[in-house]
Amino acid sequence: MDSVARPFDPRLLRQVPSTRRDVLLLGVLGAAVAVAVVTAAVALARALAAAVELRLEPAAITVFLLALTARAALTSGLGVVAARMAATAKATLRADLLAAVGRRGPGWLAGQRAGELATLTGRGLDALDGYFTGYLPQLVLGVTVPIGVLATLAFTDLASAVIVLVTLPLIPIFGILVGWQTRIATERQWRRLRMLGGHFLDMLSGLPTLKAFGRARAQVTAVREMADRHRTATMGTLRIAFLSALVLELVGTISVALVAVPVGLRLLGGGMTLAAAFTVLLLTPEAYAPLRAAGTRFHASMEGLTALDQAFTLLAAADGETSGSGSAGSARTAPRPGVIELQGVTVAYERTTALRDVDLTIRPGERIALVGPSGGGKSTLLNLLLGFTTPTAGRILVDGADLAELDLDGWRRQLGWVPQRAHLFADTLAANIALGAPGTARERVARAARAAALGPVVDALPQGLDTVLGERGHGLSSGERQRLALARAFLRDAPLLLLDEPTARLDAASEQAVVESTLSLVEGRTALLVAHRPALLAAATRVVRIDHGTLNELVTA
Ligand SMILES: Nc1ncnc2c1ncn2[C@@H]1O[C@H](COP(=O)(O)OP(=O)(O)O)[C@@H](O)[C@H]1O
Ligand SMILES: [Mg+2]
Repeated sequence: MDSVARPFDPRLLRQVPSTRRDVLLLGVLGAAVAVAVVTAAVALARALAAAVELRLEPAAITVFLLALTARAALTSGLGVVAARMAATAKATLRADLLAAVGRRGPGWLAGQRAGELATLTGRGLDALDGYFTGYLPQLVLGVTVPIGVLATLAFTDLASAVIVLVTLPLIPIFGILVGWQTRIATERQWRRLRMLGGHFLDMLSGLPTLKAFGRARAQVTAVREMADRHRTATMGTLRIAFLSALVLELVGTISVALVAVPVGLRLLGGGMTLAAAFTVLLLTPEAYAPLRAAGTRFHASMEGLTALDQAFTLLAAADGETSGSGSAGSARTAPRPGVIELQGVTVAYERTTALRDVDLTIRPGERIALVGPSGGGKSTLLNLLLGFTTPTAGRILVDGADLAELDLDGWRRQLGWVPQRAHLFADTLAANIALGAPGTARERVARAARAAALGPVVDALPQGLDTVLGERGHGLSSGERQRLALARAFLRDAPLLLLDEPTARLDAASEQAVVESTLSLVEGRTALLVAHRPALLAAATRVVRIDHGTLNELVTA
């Protein structure tokens, strides 16, 4: 969390490489602005000094106007570069976060809070706009312009240069003091917003259940209260922001006065030329202005920095678990699954150890039934082979090659997966069956449906395979959904099948149909099937019991 206090997060340059060039560009433009500021001030001072003596200096006036125009153009250039940085950074981080979710799979996602991630990829990262376009250009100018001003002052009037040099750090010091308060307030607010996001998402997905139990109205009140607290906190942050602007304004004004008063006295005493005095008076406020602007905008940029920090932390967590070896670029393509070996595999979660030092060899053509109590670790074993979970210790070898080093997409193409509860999409029945292979010939989809005992179901539907299913598969019973998942696996025709309790939660009639099509699906393939009813055991060549993360091979007759 301490990285949040820094005005710039160097991890950005690593995560979004294109920002490196933009940072360089900002620096060059910032230096050019400093030159324009100094040139304009010196030229104006000369023209004013001449005017006091009733002379006209057209050259100085022209230079002043040119420098002023250049300054405006360069400053808007800074804005353009900053806006481009914001756009690429947001797009890249969003894509990276989504890719991390895709790479890590639902197992990892479950460990994160989905609502938190949704807030971050949505509204959270939008806060980067304020940081990049409002704050970063001022930060750059806050470095280049004071350096240019100090250099010019040192040549024009050393005493003034010393005063500016001494008072300039007061701006960031006061800025940090005030920013400290702001940071605490902003972080508190960010946490509240995240909580609101998480709570809201949980509530939405659970709305039917809440309605059924008459709890929906109580939840509305809870969300309203939380939103109210968020509003109060926002007002608090704004109050601090106004206060900090006032304090910084005051420090800047007093500092300018400290320079201006002695210059005026020396001018009266004849110790200074008029042109030099004008130069000092015009340049001094310029030294403080960008730092002051950066200071007042820091509070607004805090939210962006916090979001940035969160994104990097999440991405690091996602990458850390794959520990680099599985990077897509260097990954080898997966062979057809031959012998799969689990060697001393442990999967530890924060509170539980789902699998403990497990050894298992799966040879081609073997159909292994996994039995055991709920929570024993059966789904975790399947998730390992799906690449949704990675071993905390030990390794998984596919024909001697470590699964962690294989190209996961290529590997998953070899797998057919029938989850415990298949997810259906609001699309046609045919599209749902051909999920993993869009554009499959009609005839093959129909054959897969028949193989999964869906034939009578398809015939009974008004538009057959073209019937659009409602959200979350409305219109199909649990048994029919499960058969649809089997149809997907039939169509996929993968050599290795992973089935997670395909007959759970089914009535006797559906169970019979699903068992029969499961038996014909696994025929002639390698399969790992979690069986909670004896009927499925008929398909198995081996039976393995998993209890509390430990495997025991059952000897079958
Ligand atoms: N993503 C997760 N985060 C934390 N604990 C988990 C996660 N997934 C599973 N577990 C825990 O691991 C253990 C094994 O779970 P699981 O493999 O789903 O069992 P089974 O499929 O045999 O019912 C359980 O104690 C479960 O609570
Ligand atoms: Mg399970």
